[in-house]
Amino acid sequence: MLAIKGLEVRYGAITAVRGVDLEIRKGEIVALLGANGAGKSTIARSIAGLLPFQGEISFEGEKLTPGAAEKNLRRGIALVPEGRGILARMTVYENLLMGIYTRRDKSAAMADVEKMLERFPILGKRRDGLASLLSGGEQQMLAIGRALLSKPKLLLLDEPSLGLAPLMTASLFQMIAQFRDEGLTVLLVEQKARQTLKIVDRAYLLETGRVVTSGSAEALINDPTLSEAFLGGGH
Ligand SMILES: Nc1ncnc2c1ncn2[C@@H]1O[C@H](COP(=O)(O)OP(=O)(O)OP(=O)(O)O)[C@@H](O)[C@H]1O
Ligand SMILES: [Mg+2]
Repeated sequence: MLAIKGLEVRYGAITAVRGVDLEIRKGEIVALLGANGAGKSTIARSIAGLLPFQGEISFEGEKLTPGAAEKNLRRGIALVPEGRGILARMTVYENLLMGIYTRRDKSAAMADVEKMLERFPILGKRRDGLASLLSGGEQQMLAIGRALLSKPKLLLLDEPSLGLAPLMTASLFQMIAQFRDEGLTVLLVEQKARQTLKIVDRAYLLETGRVVTSGSAEALINDPTLSEAFLGGGH
């Protein structure tokens, strides 16, 4: 579904991503793991069409034009950005409406907004409340719900667990694992490697802009050369 070849992204003099190759097949949940500053968001934002890049990103066999965010969204690539990108001064409902702006089937889309409010009952309850009053976990649900309303084929989630309590993170990851059953393809950007590897099919490990390891989640979890520091101790 997605094929990245020789991706290179610069911010002025800084090269944030260099020579990255990455593939995502239809129906897979793939993780992009790495520490702060490794280049994870830069890759996610390049795929979404939010950054200029060199190299090639193909989606369903067609090359993506760098920076063509709206076109990519219409093609079926939705990004839930790091920090969620919720419009704090708008209501929950208004935030969800943002998710359907590229949809042509407006009446079906409006019905989908109602379904989303049922799917996430907490959002339904807070429908007319300001998004800023939601908890971190609830805001993440809102951001994901909004992205799903564009009916994406590929969902990019940039550190969705950031700032969430462990229990909330666990239920979020459980939800992401279930996206597979809906036929959704997911790129999950995370730092919490061990937890992430429990729900994804494959993963890429990024270090200072390069892929240093990739493989099946099972192989990576059992890889003795991957440090405890990377996997994080305990669970
Ligand atoms: N707008 C920007 N201008 C200049 N440098 C940037 C910009 N955004 C990111 N960078 C740099 O690019 C590199 C990769 O950043 P990126 O945000 O992609 O990392 P990340 O893996 O998502 O990190 P984190 O886990 O902290 O979100 C870092 O060195 C960062 O400082
Ligand atoms: Mg990031």
